[in-house]
Amino acid sequence: MTRTLEVDLGDRSYPIHIGPGLLHDPVLYRPHIRGRQVMIVTNETVAPMYLAPLRAALDGLEVREVVLPDGEQYKTLEVWNRIFDALLDARFARDCTLIALGGGVVGDMAGFAAACYQRGVPFIQVPTTLLSQVDSSVGGKTGINHPAGKNMIGAFHQPLAVIADTETLDTLPQRELSAGLAEVLKYGLIRDPSFLDWLESHMAELLSRDPEALAHAIRRSCEIKAQIVAEDELESGQRALLNLGHTFGHAIETASGYGNWLHGEAVGAGMCMAADLSARMGWLAEADVERVRSLVTCAGLPTEPPPELDAERFRELMAVDKKVLDGRLRLVLLTAVGEAVISDEIDQDQLMATLSARRP
Ligand SMILES: NC(=O)c1ccc[n+]([C@@H]2O[C@H](COP(=O)([O-])OP(=O)(O)OC[C@H]3O[C@@H](n4cnc5c(N)ncnc54)[C@H](O)[C@@H]3O)[C@@H](O)[C@H]2O)c1
Ligand SMILES: [Zn+2]
Repeated sequence: MTRTLEVDLGDRSYPIHIGPGLLHDPVLYRPHIRGRQVMIVTNETVAPMYLAPLRAALDGLEVREVVLPDGEQYKTLEVWNRIFDALLDARFARDCTLIALGGGVVGDMAGFAAACYQRGVPFIQVPTTLLSQVDSSVGGKTGINHPAGKNMIGAFHQPLAVIADTETLDTLPQRELSAGLAEVLKYGLIRDPSFLDWLESHMAELLSRDPEALAHAIRRSCEIKAQIVAEDELESGQRALLNLGHTFGHAIETASGYGNWLHGEAVGAGMCMAADLSARMGWLAEADVERVRSLVTCAGLPTEPPPELDAERFRELMAVDKKVLDGRLRLVLLTAVGEAVISDEIDQDQLMATLSARRP
C-alpha cells in the first residue's frame, strides 16, 4: 500500500512516502538524521495521539519536543520563538534535525524555524492532516502570519523527507477533512480534468474516509504538486497556479480573524470566486462555474465569502497578498475545468462584481 514519490530538485530532491502505519517506522527516518539530536515540533492536540509512537521510532537518539498551542491564531512570531527557546535550552547544534508532527500550521512553523536556526538545519515533515499531506508539507514553503496578512514572513526551505501516514487521518475532524479536499480539488482544477472527474465520482468515498480512495487522492495530489514545484521551485512562474482561490481565500481568513474560517474553507469559497470572475471575463462557461460550485459543495465546503465582508474591504485585503506584483493584482483564473492561467489583466469592475456578488 505504501507509495514513494520523489520531488526532483537536484541535490535537494526528497522522497514523499505515503501509506498506512508509516509514522512509527524507524527505517523511514534514519537515512535523513545525521546527528543525534532531534527536536519534534508538534501541538497540544496532536501530541497525545502521535508523539509517543514517533518517539518510539526514534529510539536511541537524543529526542526533545516542543508542544505549541493549537490553532492558526498561534502561527505568530511570539509562539514561533518558543521553538528557538527549546532548541537553545537543549543546546542543540547545527547537525540537529527538526521533525514537524502535525498539520500545516505546525509544518509551516517548524519548517521556518529549521530555515533560520543557526542559518538552517535539516527537517522532516510528518503531516497528519489531509491538507498538510496533499499540500503544505511538500514544496518547501514555510512561514508564519503577521496581523496584517497571512504567511507574510517566511522562507523557502525544503524538507529532507515527507512521511505521510494515511492512518493518522482516522482521527481528523470531518470539517478538517473537507478543508483538505479543497486543495485536492485545486489540483484537478488547475492541471488534471480526468482527476477532477474521478473526484466527482468518488467524493462520497473520500468523505467516508475509504482508505483506498484517500490514498489515491493524496498520491495524485502530491504528484501534481511535486511536478509543479520541480518546474518552478521559487515561484517565478507556473508555481503560482497553486494559488488558485488563495488570494480571495487569504482575504477571507484575514477579515474573519485567523482560525474562524479554516484555510481550506476559505480556499473553497475562493475557488468559486475565481471561477465566477473567470466567467465574467468571458474565459469560462457558466456551466463550468456551476460545476466548480457543486464540487466544492459536495466536498462539504462553503461557496460564498462571509456576508459581512464588503467588496471595498475585500479588495484592500487582496492587495496585501503576496501575489501583487508592481502594484498589479495577479490572480489565477480558469480557462477550462482542468486548466488555469495567471493573469494580471484583471478588469476592476468585473472584480468588484465578483467581490460583491452573493449567489443563492
Ligand atoms: N506551506 C505551504 O505550502 C502551505 C500550503 C497550504 C497551506 N499551508 C498552511 O497550512 C495551514 C493549514 O493547515 P491544516 O489545514 O493542516 O491546519 P492545522 O495545522 O491547523 O490542523 C488542523 C487541525 O487538526 C488538528 N490535527 C492535526 N492532525 C490531526 C489528526 N491526525 N487527528 C486529529 N486532529 C488533528 C490540528 O491540531 C488542528 O486543530 C495554514 O496555516 C496554511 O497557511 C501552507
Ligand atoms: Zn492552500
